[in-house]
Amino acid sequence: MLAGWSSRFSVPWPGRTKGRASKMCLQIHSGRSSLTSTENRWTQESIMAHVVTSKCVACKFTDCVEVCPVACFYELDNQLVIHPDDCIDCTACVAECPVEAIYAEGDVPADYQANIEFNAVEARRVKDSGQDAIVKKKEPLPTAAQRKSELGY
Ligand code: SF4
Ligand code: F3S
Repeated sequence: MLAGWSSRFSVPWPGRTKGRASKMCLQIHSGRSSLTSTENRWTQESIMAHVVTSKCVACKFTDCVEVCPVACFYELDNQLVIHPDDCIDCTACVAECPVEAIYAEGDVPADYQANIEFNAVEARRVKDSGQDAIVKKKEPLPTAAQRKSELGY
């Protein structure tokens, strides 16, 4: 093998759905025993998703859904949740939420940590039940303005 030459192969990340796996791969360099720190950080970041926190409860503004390129928002009665296997971590939705309810999984504040599992469980349950992802903005909940004010926005 020529010095400095490396080849890359993409392999599915275990435990992810087909669509998700296509977005993620392990970068394997032939002739090298480990990933560089940059590649390792990239791989770790790749397995995170974005999370809708309970700030969304009683709001459900739904601005977020229209910018999602992969349709991974699912609707509950009081809030939305993000499907962790489908989210590609593009960050597009974060700036859209009027109450800043959406965080990257690694940035979820301590008070909202339970929301990570809640999103995963509820999004999988709803999707597996056959309900489509929500992709069109709709009227917020009647309580949204008051809740937004209470949250300080
Ligand atoms: Fe969708 Fe991107 Fe937000 Fe994930 S981060 S929910 S892919 S808009
Ligand atoms: Fe909820 Fe904000 Fe989306 S309130 S529905 S996360 S825009």
